[in-house]
Amino acid sequence: MAGVAVVNRQALRRVLRLRSLIAGPLAMEKHLRHDPVMLEEIDQLFALRPESVVVDGTLGLGGHSERFLSHLSPRGTLVACDWDLGMLERARERLLGTSPARIELHHCDFRDLPTLLQQLGLMADGYLLDLGLNSAQVDDADRGMSFREHGPLDMRMDRTRGEPASSLLNRMALGELESALWEYGDERWARMIARRIVERRKREPLRTTEDLVECVLAAIPPGARDKRIHPATRTFQAIRILVNRELTELDSALIESASCLAPGGVLAVLSYHSGEDRIVKNTFRILAESGEFEEVYRKPATATEEEVRRNPRSRSAKLRALRRVAPTG
Ligand SMILES: C[S@@+](CC[C@H](N)C(=O)[O-])C[C@H]1O[C@@H](n2cnc3c(N)ncnc32)[C@H](O)[C@@H]1O
Repeated sequence: MAGVAVVNRQALRRVLRLRSLIAGPLAMEKHLRHDPVMLEEIDQLFALRPESVVVDGTLGLGGHSERFLSHLSPRGTLVACDWDLGMLERARERLLGTSPARIELHHCDFRDLPTLLQQLGLMADGYLLDLGLNSAQVDDADRGMSFREHGPLDMRMDRTRGEPASSLLNRMALGELESALWEYGDERWARMIARRIVERRKREPLRTTEDLVECVLAAIPPGARDKRIHPATRTFQAIRILVNRELTELDSALIESASCLAPGGVLAVLSYHSGEDRIVKNTFRILAESGEFEEVYRKPATATEEEVRRNPRSRSAKLRALRRVAPTG
């Protein structure tokens, strides 16, 4: 019996070694993947010409921008940014040398792009904001964005600034935590989860994704859990939005972005969360009332069934678009 056990253990070790050899590159590949959402719809919406100016305020791994560049000649320009330096560098590797167009890549918040465009003297024919985070960021355990991966509770997209999630969760008042969970996560159990977080940190500060998952599981009784999603989904979304201040001044960023559109130019916004979409909807409505812009869709466009099958992350995407109809003021 002992002999068999030894043989099995050796075989197991060989298998594990082989798997780790394969898992390294595969894990890297997984981190580098993100399917651009509603690519065909946005491509048609922008209808770019060889000399167009196109702006991508949420470059990510450059999936949308790669398509935009395919339409541009040396007279065309792409201006793009991401506040995540890691994403920006990966996109740079992917995009540089693929197009004769002028390419301007910047490490900044898209809220700073309108000023930059003004300095460059450019008006946009197409302007994309694909809000939120990309698959590569979710899958990277070191960022602590996912309840499925064990990692430090950080969640910052721009790790050169801001306060990590652990620090916020260990210092915010009970009421503030509750409102963030309710407002940014639509979490019905916000009060109970906030209480568990506060109780937990009295004993020991929260440090890892697992610490937060434990608080959520202790707060929501098994019978009350939504079977379709992990119980921590809404909490992680809420804390990520809070950490990155994703909804802060989004309305003024949209107004300033729209002011950078050339006549006929289109601002397209992809949102994945009801709070985000509400801000886009209301801001676009106000801008359209001015007569300077028109909304392209009466209701937001969504991904086709085929795309949702291929890329489940497109399921919650809502696409709204605004076109400049009147000449710039
Ligand atoms: C959904 S992904 C974009 C994916 C991209 N369209 C592609 O096809 O690869 C969103 C990206 O926007 C970035 N981002 C989110 N909010 C931002 C902001 N306020 N300023 C700059 N970048 C932002 C994130 O870091 C992330 O890389």
